[in-house]
Amino acid sequence: MKWTARKLRELKGGDPFAALTAYDAFTGRIADEAGLPLCLVGDSLAGTVLGYDDTLPVTMDEMLHHAAAVGRVVTSALIVADMPFMSYQPSVADGLRSAGRFLKQARSDAVKIEGGAHRAELISACRENGIPVLGHIGLTPQSVREIGGYRIQGREPEEVRRLLDDAMAVEQAGAFAVVLECMPASLGAKITEALTIPTIGIGAGPDCDGQVLVISDLLGMNRGRAPRFVKRYADFASEAQRAVEAFRDEVGSRRFPSSEHCYGGDAR
Ligand code: KIV
Ligand code: NA
Repeated sequence: MKWTARKLRELKGGDPFAALTAYDAFTGRIADEAGLPLCLVGDSLAGTVLGYDDTLPVTMDEMLHHAAAVGRVVTSALIVADMPFMSYQPSVADGLRSAGRFLKQARSDAVKIEGGAHRAELISACRENGIPVLGHIGLTPQSVREIGGYRIQGREPEEVRRLLDDAMAVEQAGAFAVVLECMPASLGAKITEALTIPTIGIGAGPDCDGQVLVISDLLGMNRGRAPRFVKRYADFASEAQRAVEAFRDEVGSRRFPSSEHCYGGDAR
C-alpha cells in the first residue's frame, strides 16, 4: 500500500506513529521496510550528509538529487521533500515552482514548508495546485540567524498564543499535517488537541500524533552533542570506525585477503 497525504491525515488521534528522515537509497529503504507511513527528505541533509554547519546553504539541486534517490526506492511511505532556504521565501510563485519540481523531477509526494500564518498563502497555493503540504512550526531552523540559536520555542505566554495561531493557520490553509519542533510538551499537547490534522513532534512531547527523528541521529551516525529530544538507538559511527580500522589493520598485517577471499586457478 502506498501512503497518501489523505491517508496520513486519518492517523489523527490514533496510536502514535513514527516517521524518519531519509536522504538516499540506503536510508529510504530502511524507513520504507520498517513500514513507516512518512519519510522526510529533510534539509537536515545539510549537516547529516553534506557537511554544512546549518541548513541555510542547501540548494534546490542538492535537495532534488537526494529526493530523487529516495523516490527511486521507497514504495510505501509518503515521501515529503523539505523546501530549502530561499526556494520559497521570495514569493508564492517561487515557492509553487520549487514545490512542483519535487513532484515533477524527484517523485516526491508532498513538500514541507517552514513557518506559520505568514506561509498560509503559499500552503493554499500549493494545495490548490495539487501539491500536498506538511507544515512546520516552533523551532524553524532556516530562521536560525533571526532566532539567534537553536532554542526552545513557546515558553512565553505570547509565544504560546502565536504558535497556536500559526498551527491553526497552517491547518486552515490546507496542510495535511504539521511538524512541531522543540517546544514544551504541554504546548505540543495543546496544539495537538486544537488541530484536526496530525501533529508530528520532534522535541514536542509524547502527546503529538506522531514523532519524527533525523535518521542519522537515531542511528548514531554523527558524533558530538545531540539535542535533548534525540534518542540514539544505535552507534553506527563507532561501529563504522571499528570496521574500517579492522580492515586497515588486517591489510597491514596480511590477514586480508585470506584464501577465502581469493580466486583460485593458475596464472600462466
Ligand atoms: O530537516 C529535517 O530533518 C526536519 C525534521 C527534523 C523535521 O525538518
Ligand atoms: Na528541515
